[in-house]
Amino acid sequence: MTDVVLYREDDGVAYLTLNRPESLNALNPSVFSLLGRHMDFFAAESTARVLILHGKGSSFAAGADIKHYVDLTPERYADFMRVGNAIQQKFIECPKPVIASVHGYALGGGLELALVCDLIVAAPDAQLGLPEVKLGLLPGGGGTQRLARLIGPIRAAEVIMAARRFSGEEAASWGLALGVRDSSSALEAAEVIARRIARQAPLPVRAAKTLIRTSRDTPTDTGLAVEQSLGAAIYGSADAREGIAAFVEKRSAQFGGDASQNGGAATSQATSFLREAR
Ligand code: COA
Repeated sequence: MTDVVLYREDDGVAYLTLNRPESLNALNPSVFSLLGRHMDFFAAESTARVLILHGKGSSFAAGADIKHYVDLTPERYADFMRVGNAIQQKFIECPKPVIASVHGYALGGGLELALVCDLIVAAPDAQLGLPEVKLGLLPGGGGTQRLARLIGPIRAAEVIMAARRFSGEEAASWGLALGVRDSSSALEAAEVIARRIARQAPLPVRAAKTLIRTSRDTPTDTGLAVEQSLGAAIYGSADAREGIAAFVEKRSAQFGGDASQNGGAATSQATSFLREAR
């Protein structure tokens, strides 16, 4: 049987591919289970520096598998939501950046999965939305909260209450996604960004992920205090020494990015501090 989620790495970039094209990559328990396993590997064991999440076939993901809902009791439905949210947490807590490359449909839980990624790249004709109310349901993967914070409560109200789909072009104009230039696909555009991120010093990239996430839901004073302490710790790292020396010597920097460096420990400490501050 073919795996419903595929994982591969190429030149410092990991690819996580939703692989149920016959059902527009609808999310079911097997998909969640494999997503979790691959995210654990990428976060803790892989040397890849950035991950692209995308969908095989015509779409990113058309939401939770509605056929799986037919016989679910409310208790089992709540369990399914809990598992989905736990998987999302792995994307949020992953120390390395994750890019969602969105084409075709990104609906319901599909869009909610993209919303926990650090960047979203969307094809102009992609169709995004949270159409759960059409099914008599509510978005169950953080959509009401995250979409409203990212595009504002008024736009989110139309998208959610009127089940209004919006295009990738609109998503880019609202600041929810990065657009795609020229005739590139969303995946090609995501790869350009991923390769660029993979060339930078890994420790400050990780710290930036933590800090930018912080800016979404932490008071500015707290975020600024953590930025200062992280900045000082990372200044003492081998990557900072290498980056500065390479500039002065007019050569390309060779970053090790060992998470055990000072800056890596400081990033972990800052993440725990922020968790407690919330
Ligand atoms: N769950 C399960 N199967 C899904 C699915 C979902 N969320 N979305 C699409 N599929 C399946 C369809 O049932 C169909 O399979 P089938 O031919 O075996 O029945 C296949 O994917 C292709 O979908 P189809 O509806 O024929 O394509 P379309 O181009 O006409 O419409 C959508 C595409 C996305 C507009 C439509 O499939 C849709 O509305 N899907 C549900 C979206 C949704 O409500 N998501 C939130 C879930 S909580």
